[in-house]
Amino acid sequence: MRHLWCIFETFFRSLLKTMHLAMILDGNGRWAQQRGMPRVLGHRAGVLRVEECVRAAPDLGITSLTLYAFSTENWRRPAREVNALFGLLKFYFTRKANELASEGVLVRFIGRRSGLNPSVLRTMCKVEELTQSGSRLNLNIAVDYGGRDEILRVMRHAARLARDGQIAPEDVTEDFFTANSDLAASGCPDLVIRTGGDRRISNFLLWHIAYSELEFVDELWPDFSAEALGKIVAAFGKRERRFGQVTAQSA
Ligand code: IPE
Ligand code: IPE
Ligand code: MG
Repeated sequence: MRHLWCIFETFFRSLLKTMHLAMILDGNGRWAQQRGMPRVLGHRAGVLRVEECVRAAPDLGITSLTLYAFSTENWRRPAREVNALFGLLKFYFTRKANELASEGVLVRFIGRRSGLNPSVLRTMCKVEELTQSGSRLNLNIAVDYGGRDEILRVMRHAARLARDGQIAPEDVTEDFFTANSDLAASGCPDLVIRTGGDRRISNFLLWHIAYSELEFVDELWPDFSAEALGKIVAAFGKRERRFGQVTAQSA
């Protein structure tokens, strides 16, 4: 039922012209390097674009916004860069939590939490608590997130339930999977945008993007703007999404 609900919800969102947008924010490091600056300054510039896009999202009909901030593979970067990224995350959310709450933004972090520093975790839990009644925009921030890791977490959960006799193997359906995934509350993205010129998914939302529209843009993330976002969203509105059907059926 839940999967059917997911399709119905997607259809309903298209009628109401509301959408779930997911974004791979890529190109911060190159943006800084092109200016002879350390990569970290590119991440700092990128935070300003996040603020701009979060502010613009509700007026563009976006009801859920899922942003890829740190992947399970990003731990392979130099420790200095990793520390700077988590420092920025803490700085931004500590300073902005109240403002986000007053703007009606509900923040949730998706990804695995087990490997995060306790002070980063505290900041994340505090922001989630402060913004829990937001109803204008669901803002999902993917931190230590990997699509494969998420699939494995759901599979392990299902295996434990089956071992304990709480579910039968047949109960592991598409609906079960979505309901137990990190995006259970927001559902599947309608559109995924990746900035920075690379045309790949880099382990983002592998389960949920099965039928998402994809948009790859060459601009580096710190050069992206709410205006560019508005144009992409308007063009998305003209795309035909068939979900396996033929045109006459999906119209
Ligand atoms: C994206 O920018 C932000 C994160 C991955 C945290 P990058 O840091 O990947 O920037 P490029 O791709 O190296 O330019
Ligand atoms: C994807 O960007 C991850 C985030 C934007 C958080 P990467 O820069 O890490 O991706 P790859 O390594 O180029 O695939
Ligand atoms: Mg990159």
